[in-house]
Amino acid sequence: MQRERDVTTPCTLLAIESSCDDTAAAILRRDDTGQTRILSSVVRSQTGLHAAFGGVVPEIAARAHAEALDICAEEALSAAGLTIRDIDAFAVTAGPGLIGGVVSGVMCAKGLAMATGKPLYGVNHLAGHALTPRLTDAVPYPYLMLLVSGGHCQFLLVTGPDGFQRLGGTIDDAPGEAFDKVARLLGLPQPGGPSVEDQARAGDPARFSLPRPLLDRPGCDLSFSGLKTAVLRTRDAVAAEKGGLTRQDVADLCAGFQAAVSDVLAEKTRRALALCRAQTEAPLTLCVAGGVAANQSLRRALETVAAESDAAFTAPPLALCTDNAAMIGYAALEQMALAPPADMTLSARPRWPLDQSSPAMLGSGKKGAKA
Ligand code: KG4
Ligand code: ZN
Repeated sequence: MQRERDVTTPCTLLAIESSCDDTAAAILRRDDTGQTRILSSVVRSQTGLHAAFGGVVPEIAARAHAEALDICAEEALSAAGLTIRDIDAFAVTAGPGLIGGVVSGVMCAKGLAMATGKPLYGVNHLAGHALTPRLTDAVPYPYLMLLVSGGHCQFLLVTGPDGFQRLGGTIDDAPGEAFDKVARLLGLPQPGGPSVEDQARAGDPARFSLPRPLLDRPGCDLSFSGLKTAVLRTRDAVAAEKGGLTRQDVADLCAGFQAAVSDVLAEKTRRALALCRAQTEAPLTLCVAGGVAANQSLRRALETVAAESDAAFTAPPLALCTDNAAMIGYAALEQMALAPPADMTLSARPRWPLDQSSPAMLGSGKKGAKA
């Protein structure tokens, strides 16, 4: 068995990510002071391949990953000015995600590790997202991570490289999925988040009364599918009354929907921070990651909640908030002192909850398993 590495052992690592619809490779280097730098990060999006289908098609995704993985790894090496001989270790997303894509990545990484005789680390994709604020902003433990994207929605209290406590999450759609569906309902382009946010700027958030799902129930769980249905009903009611929707109707619906999402996420974040406070007296940071973290109105709401709860606020730059391989490499570097490398039996896992004590999640959404 390979020796476990200390967190200050210098290490140049090549990481691979292929759990959804982005094929990614990155090279990271940790120096002997324990500082980690991203030497290169390559992301190839498959958005165009799936555009006609209204969601990610797993078989198309798996094949596209298999074709793009080698190319991404080569691009990452060349952008870092390195060759495969300079790599000390490999990391790969081993789950959760769309299984065909995860298998493609794991097979590629096993091949590289076997050919070079270097260690391989299997990483949980969610751990990659959850540890990113340490890579980008050196956020100290503990912190609260709100992960909001097209495939994820959960609150995690992060207490160490493998210390994750799930405080709540969606019981149906992820918020990004809801933004995308609402955009589709209103004839706006995909991805829906930016389109809805853009329309919402000219809209009146108070014109339509939309629900704030699960606010009447205790805890930090969330639900977005009823909100999306409420937008559909409201759209149909307005269209039936006037014979169609004006630009202002669309803007008002977008503003109302965005305000409902922000209100719900802000209130549940307030509760999650209170739960963290009950467990630790250490200073807390609220971190938000995932594509939906790009939403300015949500960010403002979360910044306000953090300030009210006496917590700092951090959002990693968007390129590292959304799916990428640098986060997988960083998680491997943080976790490699805790467990030995994987061997060639490393398997791809469609579901892999970070917090093994939390109940299984319902639903799996268009982008695969959520936990
Ligand atoms: O993290 P991400 O790039 O991919 C995964 O889902 O894994 O997130 C993409 C999601 C899409 O659903 C997109 O509509 C949403 O993030 N999104 C936004 C915004 N920008 C992207 N949602 C709301 N407001 C935005 N500005
Ligand atoms: Zn992700």
